Amino acid sequence: MTIHIGAKPGEIADTVLLPGDPYRAKWAAETFLADVKLVNEVRGMLGFTGTWNGHRVTIQGSGMGMPSLSIYVNELIKDYDAKTLIRIGSCGGMQPQVGIRDVILASTSSTVSTPSTGIFKELNFAPSADFDLLHKAFHAAEAKGIKTHVGGIYSADVFYDERPDLNEQMTRHGILAVEMEAAELYNLALRYNRRALAVLTVSDHLQTGEALPSEDREKSFGDMVEIALEAAFK
Ligand code: HPA
Repeated sequence: MTIHIGAKPGEIADTVLLPGDPYRAKWAAETFLADVKLVNEVRGMLGFTGTWNGHRVTIQGSGMGMPSLSIYVNELIKDYDAKTLIRIGSCGGMQPQVGIRDVILASTSSTVSTPSTGIFKELNFAPSADFDLLHKAFHAAEAKGIKTHVGGIYSADVFYDERPDLNEQMTRHGILAVEMEAAELYNLALRYNRRALAVLTVSDHLQTGEALPSEDREKSFGDMVEIALEAAFK
């Protein structure tokens, strides 16, 4: 047990999928895994361990934003020795060629700050994804017939952003989409020599104002779970 995760030693798998929403963790575990066990409910941030095609997997909610994700990922790595960590979540499109429902695989993520800024100080560290995971996720997504983009994203500290000028610069510099967690996941994975990837579905678009209809959200989320599992184990 850790401060924020109630799982007993050995109850967390080497491979952990990290949706922001704990109820998504529950849905994904019940839909895709066999022999599912609830391993965490501290603060309602549900985590489940089960198997997929015989491979042990944990699906643990991360909460929203990098400070929340950082707590769970620090404990998953340092206390439970998680080796492969894959975020599955939504993002806002920032380029005209990026459409609603498309999948974004973040090769790197730009930020204003992360929970790791205190140690990087003046360094503009460029956190990057694990290439093997990214490569496999790309092929898994393409095989599903989903339009897939690989490139830089923006991990923001705020959802209600008062800096439209910053978004303009991101778009100008080719950033594909905005979300709020990936950069710190990559920082921590690189610091502790683990594998990480963010698999994201475009749920809204900052330029067009378009949004994913609610009836499509479950299917998109399910596709991301399958892409993440295939990336981890194929
Ligand atoms: N901003 C930040 N995070 C997001 C967004 C957004 O527009 N859409 C989905 N996650």
